[in-house]
Amino acid sequence: MENIVLELDKVSVSYAGDITILKDVSIAAQKGKITGIIGPNGAGKSTALKTMYRVLDISQGDIRYEGQSIRRLEQTELIRRGIAYVPQSRSVFGELSVRDNLVLGAWCIRNEKARIARAIENVYELFPMLAEKRDAFAGTLSGGQQRFLEIARSLVTDPKVILFDEPSAMIAPKYSKEIYAFIQKIRDEGRTVVLVDQNVRQCANISDHLYVLELGRNKIDSPTNTMNGNAEMAELISGWIAHKVD
Ligand SMILES: Nc1ncnc2c1ncn2[C@@H]1O[C@H](COP(=O)(O)OP(=O)(O)OP(=O)(O)O)[C@@H](O)[C@H]1O
Ligand SMILES: [Mg+2]
Repeated sequence: MENIVLELDKVSVSYAGDITILKDVSIAAQKGKITGIIGPNGAGKSTALKTMYRVLDISQGDIRYEGQSIRRLEQTELIRRGIAYVPQSRSVFGELSVRDNLVLGAWCIRNEKARIARAIENVYELFPMLAEKRDAFAGTLSGGQQRFLEIARSLVTDPKVILFDEPSAMIAPKYSKEIYAFIQKIRDEGRTVVLVDQNVRQCANISDHLYVLELGRNKIDSPTNTMNGNAEMAELISGWIAHKVD
């Protein structure tokens, strides 16, 4: 595959102890595309994203960014080189202002004051609601607004790749629609997106390539535009969609 920006290549990963969570998992994110990762609870989706973000070390295989192995790269260096992450669990600092949350998102590039100021102004343009509430404590925002703040915070380093872990989970439908539109906009700007999602239908709709993980392994993967030709994938997805409520 050409134009791969970020890649897990047959990686195995454990948390503390010797239980291997990811086994021989390969996922390739192509430049300027949305790569979706779906699968049942506990399949290892979040673990795969954390591995890409260098939160977890790999015990086997390799992880490459822009063609180079990053399995030993410091996470701060990875962030400086353009990877951002929006975690599954709530992560804003409720007792800090919206603006301070954004400034903290740029911690790894804190010496680049002009770059940060520019990025924050861009983010305010993208999310006028955050500009209005820049002095409010983040904890006073609604769940959906906090999600936007988390997404905005991931953008203040002007990343090339953004890893989203279930961005619309527990979010009111009116916001989740906006979130998916926003993720597509990020892709259309030329950024690379990796999207972990429980919302199979939405994820399949906006992804360019879809991976299914099951029990810590690759189950199947396919470009979404040829998915109808992939009977196994089509059956898997239609089975899930039939049992999922959006
Ligand atoms: N910090 C941890 N320490 C030990 N085991 C963990 C830890 N986090 C996750 N696991 C285990 O790793 C496996 C994969 O978890 P992971 O969170 O990656 O799944 P997931 O596909 O993201 O699931 P979900 O859809 O529920 O978010 C599960 O069996 C889980 O119990
Ligand atoms: Mg998860």
